[in-house]
Amino acid sequence: MRLRDAGVLITGASAGIGAALAAELRRRGARLALTGRDENRLRAVARENECTIAGDLTGAAFRERLFAEAEQKLGGVDVLINNAGAGLYAPPSVSPEAEMRAMFELNFFAAVDLSHRACKAMRPRGRGMIVNVSSIAGRVTLPWFTLYSASKFALTSFTEGLRAEMSGSGLHAMVVSPGYVQTEFQEHVLCGRSPTALRRARRFATTPEACARAIADGIEQERKEVVTPWSGRLLVQAARWWPGLIAWQLERMNRSLESGQ
Ligand SMILES: NC(=O)c1ccc[n+]([C@@H]2O[C@H](COP(=O)([O-])OP(=O)(O)OC[C@H]3O[C@@H](n4cnc5c(N)ncnc54)[C@H](OP(=O)(O)O)[C@@H]3O)[C@@H](O)[C@H]2O)c1
Repeated sequence: MRLRDAGVLITGASAGIGAALAAELRRRGARLALTGRDENRLRAVARENECTIAGDLTGAAFRERLFAEAEQKLGGVDVLINNAGAGLYAPPSVSPEAEMRAMFELNFFAAVDLSHRACKAMRPRGRGMIVNVSSIAGRVTLPWFTLYSASKFALTSFTEGLRAEMSGSGLHAMVVSPGYVQTEFQEHVLCGRSPTALRRARRFATTPEACARAIADGIEQERKEVVTPWSGRLLVQAARWWPGLIAWQLERMNRSLESGQ
């Protein structure tokens, strides 16, 4: 999908990967509609001529208004990027009900709903792309982040099925599986607190700008999946070939994270 002059709707554009994506796609000539809850941050990310629509994606009424407004302002959404998401720290045996449901509403159901709306609008035009930002945790269960992993596995699987359904229609779906990215994601978790050791490991994480470049390349090449950075690709491959070994390593890591809080 050519990004020059394409109309792109990005969710979660007020911070982190979404804000970096806005800058990268703008550089490549895309026309943008940006959304997030924080109107001030959204305005700071956007350029004067760009459309910003602030609101909470966990509300169905907002999603309906958001997509309709983006379609109208962009003259058609060519690329939908479902990037907004949040994490949750809690052992799976004591899943906090309200926060767990809120996380699934944002990470999974909001993306599904917007994808449905995008498909409906794109089908008659015979072109369009849906990009769902999942996670490495949507390929390999991270035991310290089990519920978040579950929401991202659901999103990854949905995206793969959607791509199969749309094959031959001119529409395409791509899943993005980032590893650790230097954003405020850890501070924005809906519940619990990320293990200290994990926050310290932030220096090994990739930048949102590098992640955004990989996603933009993936859109232009109509890739099925973007796994970034390379260390994330390594983990996904290792889990495929040596599932027992990787599960053992992750369990060890989980125990050390718990004891080092
Ligand atoms: N950072 C990582 O290490 C990492 C790794 C793998 C995957 N990911 C995924 O990458 C995506 C972006 O994460 P990030 O690292 O950029 O996190 P971030 O810095 O916390 O940004 C999250 C974005 O989502 C928006 N958002 C959160 N809750 C929302 C809601 N209820 N309604 C509307 N917008 C909402 C936030 O905007 P407002 O606060 O303004 O609403 C913000 O723009 C997420 O899907 C995340 O799961 C991140």
